[in-house]
Amino acid sequence: MRLLLLILFSLLSNSASAIDWSKIEGTQLTLFFPGQYSWEWLLTSHQGANSIKKGRGCFLCHKGQEKKKGEAILKHDHHHNAMNSSSLDVIVKAAYDKDDLHINISHDAHQSVTNYTLMLDDGSVRASTVAGCWAYCHEDQSEMKAAGTGERSHYLSQSRSELTTQGGGDSLVSSQTLEKLVSEKQFNEIWQARLSTGNKAVTTSGYILEKRHLVDNNSVKAQTRHHHGQNAIVFSRKLKSARKFQKDLNSENLIYLGLAVHRKGNSGRTHLVSFPFTLSLNKNISADVNAKAL
Ligand code: HEC
Repeated sequence: MRLLLLILFSLLSNSASAIDWSKIEGTQLTLFFPGQYSWEWLLTSHQGANSIKKGRGCFLCHKGQEKKKGEAILKHDHHHNAMNSSSLDVIVKAAYDKDDLHINISHDAHQSVTNYTLMLDDGSVRASTVAGCWAYCHEDQSEMKAAGTGERSHYLSQSRSELTTQGGGDSLVSSQTLEKLVSEKQFNEIWQARLSTGNKAVTTSGYILEKRHLVDNNSVKAQTRHHHGQNAIVFSRKLKSARKFQKDLNSENLIYLGLAVHRKGNSGRTHLVSFPFTLSLNKNISADVNAKAL
């Protein structure tokens, strides 16, 4: 038995559960209810539209406004009654070893979350470097204002040939073009963890291009922790991409992230989201979250 425990410990020692997160500095972010504000709205009716077109990110004007924005947006939304909060404070930490990146997201344990989704980009998709999740949130996707009755999931503009203020509709580019975009890493990677009973995390991952593909149950792992009144989830993935729809996570590029959570009973757009934030694996490149080398 002793021997077995020793072996188990040595197997775990390189994994997320062996990291002393208390020694790693975190970044506080506030997630908020985004209503039905889409990519098209951001680039047209929004007062910050010109800045976004010039590549300036949301934090430039909105840092610290998340809680108030969430409250104001929820007040006028017809999903008002479905949401039990309009914002959530989280702490994000990151660490990496020679093989894996680990991202730790924690929050007050009373604020139960059932679903965590991370969007990642390596800088290939310019819209995501500026707007994070808003790059794939369109006026005509399901539950948005111009959705009609059709089902349409998240998509990136480069997957459409005709773009209007109502979104890109079903004007898909050719399958050869889609393949080329995948080979050029012109997609957003997504990692998702759903908490089952007992708070065990069930993960899936994939990418967003012409739609949301959740296709892989193995590459991304997640562990939940409960510590000093905080609930945490730790996502882990190999630094090197193992599938064609994954990005290489390395110290040369900033990693652009967006985080969305669903609380109990919520799904679809009744979620809380972050403004886009950056992560760096290089201590000489500063970011919102600086990953610690283990
Ligand atoms: C150059 C400054 C600037 C930038 C950059 C900017 N915004 Fe704004 N935004 C504004 C102003 C000004 C308003 C109107 C006043 C307000 O609501 O804060 C606004 C309003 C909003 C609102 C409406 C809030 C409400 O109460 O109804 C949302 C949502 C929003 N911005 C999201 C974003 C996102 C997402 C980004 C990044 C992709 C972004 N903004 C970047 C200036 C900016």
